[in-house]
Amino acid sequence: MRLGIISALHEEQAGLVEAMERPSRLIHGMREYFVGQLWEIDAVCVLSRIGKVAAAMSATTLVEKFGVTHILFTGVAGAGDKTVRVGDIVIAESLVQHDMDASPLFPRFEVPLIGRSHFQPDLQLSMRLSVAAHDFLEQDFMEAIQRQDQMAFQLEQPRVHRGLIASGDQFVNDRLRLEAMNGALPGLVAVEMEGAAVAQVCHELNVPFAVIRAISDNANENAAHDFMRFVKSVAAQYAFYITRRLCRELRDAPLQPRIDSAGT
Ligand code: ADE
Repeated sequence: MRLGIISALHEEQAGLVEAMERPSRLIHGMREYFVGQLWEIDAVCVLSRIGKVAAAMSATTLVEKFGVTHILFTGVAGAGDKTVRVGDIVIAESLVQHDMDASPLFPRFEVPLIGRSHFQPDLQLSMRLSVAAHDFLEQDFMEAIQRQDQMAFQLEQPRVHRGLIASGDQFVNDRLRLEAMNGALPGLVAVEMEGAAVAQVCHELNVPFAVIRAISDNANENAAHDFMRFVKSVAAQYAFYITRRLCRELRDAPLQPRIDSAGT
């Protein structure tokens, strides 16, 4: 396997690049790609940059130019539902582009000419990720996140959720807008700006992928408050520890080959 790791922000990527063995750095399309090994897994790290087009470009290049066989997206997101709290972890079960609307030509949210609105991540990779996230919270969290940051963000017994992630070219910082989205998209757990674009690319190129997000805010009027402090002191640690657990697990027990839809 060759794992493409897309991080949303520099702070989340830095620890992974530092941990990389025999890294080489290549510049392509205004992005830096770091190619090497992470805990004995062949890996390529890149920043998605922000928004759906930027993320789609990073994902496509990882597959077409760097030959990755799987993609992992790590980043932060706004909570999509009241049951999801800052510091919780969300793993996508499905992804949708909440700003896709070609109605009345096509149903709202449907990606025209693909015939679907929701994209499903690879179940095996997502389940491994889920185990890594649970183990992180149970075994690493207290060591990884400084006490003062736990207190500042009121991180009390963070949880792992699996559900629908909605992506769009908008930082959501409006309670009413979030409520409308939550009403239109049952099962919504998080809002962000890239995941469903990576999902569409992976669907079209038939590449298994998974998306994990740390909840940084409640997608309301306070969403931008302390955002960078959360990314640096919390999300970056989540991304590093969980990716390390995932890679070690993939090294010790590689994924089973996928059976494609034709059953071959
Ligand atoms: N990423 C983190 N928080 C977000 C929000 N509120 N809206 C969109 N993307 C986000």
